[in-house]
Amino acid sequence: MKAMALSSFKLGEPLVMMELPDPKPAFGQVRVFVKAIGVNPVDWKMRTYGPLRWAAKMLRWVRVSKGPMIIGVDFAGVVDAVGPGVSEFKIGDRVVGGCDFSNGLPGSYADTVLVYPKQITHLPTNISFDVAGALPVVGVTAWLSVVTMGQVTAGKHLLVLGAAGGVGQFVVQLAKNVREAYVVGVCSTKNLERVRQLGADIAIDYTQVDALIQAKQHGPFDCIIDCVGDYSGSGCRSMLAPGGKHIMVSADKIPSMVQIFIPPFSSKILLAKPTGERLKPVLDAVSSGKVRVEIAQHMPLEEAEKAHELSKTHRVTGKIVLQPKA
Ligand SMILES: NC(=O)c1ccc[n+]([C@@H]2O[C@H](COP(=O)([O-])OP(=O)(O)OC[C@H]3O[C@@H](n4cnc5c(N)ncnc54)[C@H](OP(=O)(O)O)[C@@H]3O)[C@@H](O)[C@H]2O)c1
Repeated sequence: MKAMALSSFKLGEPLVMMELPDPKPAFGQVRVFVKAIGVNPVDWKMRTYGPLRWAAKMLRWVRVSKGPMIIGVDFAGVVDAVGPGVSEFKIGDRVVGGCDFSNGLPGSYADTVLVYPKQITHLPTNISFDVAGALPVVGVTAWLSVVTMGQVTAGKHLLVLGAAGGVGQFVVQLAKNVREAYVVGVCSTKNLERVRQLGADIAIDYTQVDALIQAKQHGPFDCIIDCVGDYSGSGCRSMLAPGGKHIMVSADKIPSMVQIFIPPFSSKILLAKPTGERLKPVLDAVSSGKVRVEIAQHMPLEEAEKAHELSKTHRVTGKIVLQPKA
């Protein structure tokens, strides 16, 4: 198999295309031939000094994994081998899922992945591999923040900070088209029309006047979902309706992390991990046309390093999808 991997997971080490032995599924494992891989900020944040890197190092150490480190979470593809004890999936099934370092298996930046059945689910026939590969992390994050944690329902007021990004676009569409909420989205000038078209009732341009000051007139909010991480926690809490929730999707910086300790404890951190079960309602929303996944760019897997440089700019609108060679 071919994989974009780090030989020792040292800080600053480049991703390199490696030829590795083909993995054989052990008991209870499934092997997937990968067609598309979504790029997420966590993929490069793990390679950069900070909490996500420490967490990844800890998991690697606990699992005593010494070989090359294959990074990446999102993937979609076709089952090409199943281990003994697997009955839910068979060779030829189209699937989508998320790799999970905590179970000791490698990541998704490869032409082949090994997973456990709970990490994947069947892919509806009307969703393409590239759309499916782009959605596990952003889709599950959006669902957990809007539905599970945010409990956003019809008529509730939702403020989305970072509405044009991978997670933000999903959040806006889920909140409007599935939960029928009143949605206010914050983005830059060039994305105002895009965010309105996704379903936001109001789109706010953060490049002109402070976004929270502009948003205040559309509140109070039952839920504020921060997909950026640079907005003031106290500013967000001050705009919440009684019982409202401030959900920090982007919370890997110390100033964000401390917000959860500040009364009235309405700020929460979300940590989303894609699983087959969590992906099912997300796929329903996409399959029924209620949520559309915007692909910003397709790139060959070999260009993963370039994809990370693009993602680091925080200017990408939609998802970058990597494709292994057929
Ligand atoms: N907690 C979790 O489990 C979890 C899961 C997924 C992602 N995350 C985190 O959530 C964050 C977003 O992820 P993503 O995949 O959506 O990233 P992304 O697609 O790279 O987000 C880029 C978007 O951010 C917008 N943006 C940048 N600065 C902004 C600002 N000041 N105000 C409003 N929008 C701004 C940009 O829109 P404009 O060009 O319009 O500014 C751009 O479209 C990342 O920090 C990621 O690590 C956490």
